[in-house]
Amino acid sequence: MPSPLPAFDLNNQNALITGSTDGLGKAAAELLAQAGAHVWINGRSETRCDQVAAKLRKAGLKATSLPFDVADETAAELAFQTLATAGGLSILVNNVGQRDRRTLPKFTRNDLQSLLNVDLISPFRLSQRAADQMRANGYGRIVNISSIAGLIAQSGDAAYTSAKAGINGMTKALAAELGTDGINVNAVAPGFFKTEPNAAAAEDPALLEKLQNATALKRWGNPEELAPTILFLASAAASYVTGQVWAVDGGYTSHY
Ligand SMILES: NC(=O)c1ccc[n+]([C@@H]2O[C@H](COP(=O)([O-])OP(=O)(O)OC[C@H]3O[C@@H](n4cnc5c(N)ncnc54)[C@H](OP(=O)(O)O)[C@@H]3O)[C@@H](O)[C@H]2O)c1
Repeated sequence: MPSPLPAFDLNNQNALITGSTDGLGKAAAELLAQAGAHVWINGRSETRCDQVAAKLRKAGLKATSLPFDVADETAAELAFQTLATAGGLSILVNNVGQRDRRTLPKFTRNDLQSLLNVDLISPFRLSQRAADQMRANGYGRIVNISSIAGLIAQSGDAAYTSAKAGINGMTKALAAELGTDGINVNAVAPGFFKTEPNAAAAEDPALLEKLQNATALKRWGNPEELAPTILFLASAAASYVTGQVWAVDGGYTSHY
């Protein structure tokens, strides 16, 4: 299917979207596939990856299941060997991120290390591997899924906030280092989106009232509303955009 605008055409590009069997990652994978990319569907559940990839293929899109735990170095290395054999990666969307809302006294060193391992170290390591393949082709796009929690903070969320602020710093640092290799690195910082981890919160009238006061758009976001920004940053259209962290939050961080 031809893309309406050439700069957004992702044909002949392999795109790995981590955590793409659900939520924001799944919506991004669907849109990137519609723009022509061969999307590699990731999550820890092989069954779910197979199902999501099969559904996309049934719709005439290019998709392959690539299950692995982003925190498992050996599995990640094997996955990148598979991608190299398939022609190399052009687009990496580092989407996986765990949340653990506990107050400071309840966080052990192991808890902290475990969260940082998934939310910060793994995207860093996957970006290193992706950059090796992108450098060889002189072109690449890395899009990190951060959070408004990397920009502003709330009580009881210190580990996640630290990790997401780290993602923002990593985005700028990788952009600075990889720019001359033709690799642009950006982040998006979602606000409140209706995904499975927020299922209970989405039913909470007090939180809805808070969002109605705090966001310019006065509502939750839907996963499909993050994907277009990811598509832009993953495309050739973003040729002069790098090192940025873009809030996609209905105006939560821009409005008071
Ligand atoms: N939703 C929001 O409102 C919101 C707001 C700000 C930021 N974010 C960020 O957006 C990203 C996606 O959030 P979401 O709400 O869409 O999450 P989600 O609905 O929970 O999606 C999780 C996806 O990640 C996969 N996954 C989890 N741990 C994994 C691991 N270690 N290795 C590989 N895959 C793994 C899951 O599959 P398996 O379980 O099979 O592994 C699933 O595909 C996160 O980085 C989150 O911090 C979300």
